[in-house]
Amino acid sequence: MRTVVATVCLLLLVVCVSRAWTEEPSRSVVVQQARRQAEILHDTLHSTLQVVHHRYYREDEGLLLPAAALREIFADVEKRQKIELHWLAVEGEVMNTDHRARDEFEQAAVTALKADRPFHEEVTEKAYRRAGPITLKNECLKCHVPDRKSTEDRTAGLVITIPLQ
Ligand code: HEC
Repeated sequence: MRTVVATVCLLLLVVCVSRAWTEEPSRSVVVQQARRQAEILHDTLHSTLQVVHHRYYREDEGLLLPAAALREIFADVEKRQKIELHWLAVEGEVMNTDHRARDEFEQAAVTALKADRPFHEEVTEKAYRRAGPITLKNECLKCHVPDRKSTEDRTAGLVITIPLQ
């Protein structure tokens, strides 16, 4: 009898352990992972844009604007990783009509980022979407806010959409 009980317990243990190994991560874990990926991606692209502007871009040399060059990187990332990225106009002039808010989520994101919220996010069945701020410093305002009355920082945005498998 004891051997039978021990064998059953062992079998149950094996079943539990193998299930734990093969089980898909829970939805909240998947969302958390997507949020973290979006945060890292945002910070990396934010710093890249600022450094490239500051160190490489010279207005009088007819160069492609860094924000436009980064769109080529967005296209690469989308092709390889299925992560969609695009700019969002928040404050100042709309520099490119493609950057206007595209839907209700993005309109709400513009309001949130204007109010200095650190980010705006949503989770749908299919994707995690996050809009975060891009700082427009004094050196950026000449073009972005031509009628400025002050040199305080302004805000643009970046929207990142990560599919939830
Ligand atoms: C010489 C003018 C000029 C300067 C200076 C400039 N930008 Fe821009 N920026 C533009 C134009 C034009 C676009 C639209 C480019 C496009 O989509 O082809 C743009 C687009 C952007 C966008 C996309 C969102 C939007 O509002 O359209 C971001 C983000 C951005 N710039 C950040 C910056 C930052 C950060 C700086 C300063 C470090 C800066 N820019 C300085 C002209 C400028």
